[in-house]
Amino acid sequence: MSGAPHERFEHVLRALGDQVSTPAPIVLIDVVEENIRRMQAFAEAHGKAVRPHVKTHKSVAIGRMQLDAGAIGLTVGTLSEAEIFADAGCDDLMLAYPIWPAGTKAERIRSLAVRTRLTVGVESAAAVDALAAAMSDDAASLGVVVEIDCGARRSGVRPEEAGALAARAREAGLDPRGIFTYPGHGGSVGKPEGAAADQAVALRRAAASLREHGIEPSIVSAGSTPTASRSTDDVITEIRPGEYVFNDHDGVRIGAAEPEQIGLFVATTVISDQGHPHVIVDAGTKALAREGNPDRGYGQVPSYGAHLSLLNEYHGFVALPEGGERPQVGTRIVVVPHHVCPVVNSFEELLVTDRAGSRLERWPVDAQGQLN
Ligand SMILES: Cc1ncc(COP(=O)(O)O)c(C=O)c1O
Repeated sequence: MSGAPHERFEHVLRALGDQVSTPAPIVLIDVVEENIRRMQAFAEAHGKAVRPHVKTHKSVAIGRMQLDAGAIGLTVGTLSEAEIFADAGCDDLMLAYPIWPAGTKAERIRSLAVRTRLTVGVESAAAVDALAAAMSDDAASLGVVVEIDCGARRSGVRPEEAGALAARAREAGLDPRGIFTYPGHGGSVGKPEGAAADQAVALRRAAASLREHGIEPSIVSAGSTPTASRSTDDVITEIRPGEYVFNDHDGVRIGAAEPEQIGLFVATTVISDQGHPHVIVDAGTKALAREGNPDRGYGQVPSYGAHLSLLNEYHGFVALPEGGERPQVGTRIVVVPHHVCPVVNSFEELLVTDRAGSRLERWPVDAQGQLN
């Protein structure tokens, strides 16, 4: 087995043989363990806690690995994710999202907040009031963190507005625990450094704003895999990386990971070759989502120096370089996802092995499709 990551993936695929029915996400769990350990060690070396985002793996077993490695709790994106990880025993959950307690959510937030340490994102006075109403007599058991926009222009208030919103939460009886931000504008080539700097400035201003209202933030929470290595400013108490657990082609492309730190690939099979400049594999948008663009393609096929140039729902077009090797129908092919999170959410189970392909377990994607 050679050291090049895609040759390692090919080796694993050969070793697993007919145990794998394609398309399937194959996880190299020893790579995942190293990714978890490395992030934890980095954070601890800088005095930061880690609260990994489960959106990448949606797996209770991998969430446990993160907690066992020293994570202080888990970050979730939806209430149903929170319920699944709470039921599995995680007792410190941050819903880093400006949740609106509509429908069944009001009662579910209340019941979750009284049985676990739950902290939810807020970024409007209306949501603060709605959450307080949902919690009724139990308002003090719901923690809130004010979401700050540090430049991504997604959700989040301006840093200077954070204190007033935290004070409103306190007046409504909720427990204002601090602030969080997601530097989403750091997710492309050359951008992580500037986004991390924006993040630190915004969090400093927001923390000061809370203090002006007499609230000491115990949580000052920063994102994300691309900015993690630069999220070392003193104001930050914790980081919330998600993708680092598996990594992907985009992470490598923007410098957030090394190729050998990719811990998940998709096993596919060539199912059609009609002599076009492409062959077709059995993974389309249903498996991979449409992550990429026409220039970069929608998934990498490194063993053939190729990429997926087009995806239909169940068909992936592997654009073959001129004069390159042409895989026959029936050949298994490694696809390295551009963005790993939607890939995981496409499947009911992860096929878990190691770099040598010496074992195979099937782990459920416990929170697959849990959006509300
Ligand atoms: C609020 C929030 N926190 C943390 C993350 C984790 O970011 P990444 O997957 O880049 O590590 C995300 C990703 O979308 C997010 O939206």
